[in-house]
Amino acid sequence: MTTFVIAVDGPSGSGKSSTARGVAQRLGLAYLDTGAMYRAMTWALLQRGTDLTDADAIARDAEDVVIVSGTDPSDPTIEADGTDVALPIRSSEVTGSVSLVAAVPHVRELLVQLQRSTIAAAEQGIVVEGRDIGSTVAPDATVKVFLVADAAARAARRTAELGGADAAATQEALARRDHIDSTRTSSPLAKAPDAVEIDGTHHTLEEVVDQVVALVEQVR
Ligand code: C5P
Repeated sequence: MTTFVIAVDGPSGSGKSSTARGVAQRLGLAYLDTGAMYRAMTWALLQRGTDLTDADAIARDAEDVVIVSGTDPSDPTIEADGTDVALPIRSSEVTGSVSLVAAVPHVRELLVQLQRSTIAAAEQGIVVEGRDIGSTVAPDATVKVFLVADAAARAARRTAELGGADAAATQEALARRDHIDSTRTSSPLAKAPDAVEIDGTHHTLEEVVDQVVALVEQVR
């Protein structure tokens, strides 16, 4: 039996995580945050002292990193090499380096394989969020959403999450990360042709969750 998959892709700060978790909770589905996996890989490589300007070193060291993601949307856990990394993966050090690590094709091969096996194990169905879910990880997903929001709204959301950091600097950092994510050669951030674009700029989280749930109801 193939798993019922809802793919939620989009740029940084578009509200993907809150939306994907909200949809999973509303529909009683599992939840997978693939961004957290790339962050956990980055954390583990920083711990090892891997030179993150060297793609070959990243590809080699990534082989030995063990990442485990929990799929309960009310408590999504993430471990790297047996350590709970839920907090450290949100540090500015990891955020500043994750796009370099995620651009290395072998890292993507390793993590996409792990993501696919997690999806296959979710018998109740799963909401998966990331950048390449509808295009690469789960091209047969039942529902594909591409969530966008204008740059200022995304920066404002991230600034609030970071407890009032500098909004202009946050907007610049998001733009830098989006640029690397969209221009890399290996499965770049892109809207799948059959994805439904939702612009959350002028909507509350509840309203965006409602829109995704309505799409799911149409196909279930
Ligand atoms: O979603 P989040 O901001 O936590 O993702 C962190 C980074 O992980 C992204 O900027 C991107 O470089 C990478 N990523 C990716 N493919 C995914 C999910 C995240 O390349 N499916």
